[in-house]
Amino acid sequence: MEGVLNLPPAPTLTDFLTVLTGAGVSAESGIRTFRDAGGLWESHRLEEVASPPAFARDPELVWRFYKARWENASRARPNPAHEALAAMGAALAGRFVLITQNVDGLHQCAGSAGVLDMHGSLHRCRCTRCDTHYSMRNVDLTPALPACPACGGLLRPDIVWFGEMPHYLDEIEVALRRTTLFLVAGTSGVVYPAAQFVQMARRNGASAIGVNLEPPDNIACFDTFIQGRAGVVLPQLAAAWLDADKS
Ligand code: OAD
Repeated sequence: MEGVLNLPPAPTLTDFLTVLTGAGVSAESGIRTFRDAGGLWESHRLEEVASPPAFARDPELVWRFYKARWENASRARPNPAHEALAAMGAALAGRFVLITQNVDGLHQCAGSAGVLDMHGSLHRCRCTRCDTHYSMRNVDLTPALPACPACGGLLRPDIVWFGEMPHYLDEIEVALRRTTLFLVAGTSGVVYPAAQFVQMARRNGASAIGVNLEPPDNIACFDTFIQGRAGVVLPQLAAAWLDADKS
């Protein structure tokens, strides 16, 4: 049976739960992952679309890639995995942090508050000259190279590209110090620094639970690993944990 037979113990009132998600959590919403068969990095060369040198070399190609991904993400709907995490966040308010490597905005769309989207967002862009930030909805995306409404400078997607510093590292460090339970879902565990958060949390005394379709690269770092789809396993975990949290 897919999912959980022996559920990890529910968080107690003194527990703090930190969750890290990756592309697998949005797979059931129809968003392509990166490294699975049929994943994005199979049809696009990472170094041609997801790095500062790529943008300097061919900004039109990079914009085409991100406009298409933004349109796709805008059409997608949250799935039961996003909804389960939103329910956990609401129930454990004040002792819950959600970190995501995903840029599709589906956690926010499902109602999760305070999401630390460490790799940026497809729904935002910013000016390379004056650094004004915009919602993609509020800029004219018809030109091949969208321009800043304030200063006319070249806009770029607000995505953390390879070689750039992820967002929210200070907030993440605080959460990883505080956390007693660390849940990681839908990530291959190959991209740093996110792949090492589990070790950091465990060094600070947390226990770690992994949920993934395939065993991730860093599987050895988890106390418990549950193999299955996030859209099946996370609702099971949320139901069991939140029932226990009420009693
Ligand atoms: P990957 O594509 O590397 O890994 C996705 C993982 O999700 C794989 O291990 C799959 O087995 C698993 N998976 C697929 N479908 C699933 C499902 N329904 N339920 C649970 N798991 C499922 O994606 P990430 O680990 O998120 O960075 O990739 C990390 C970063 O690499 C991304 O944020 C992106 C990429 O390059 C940037 O663009 C900066």
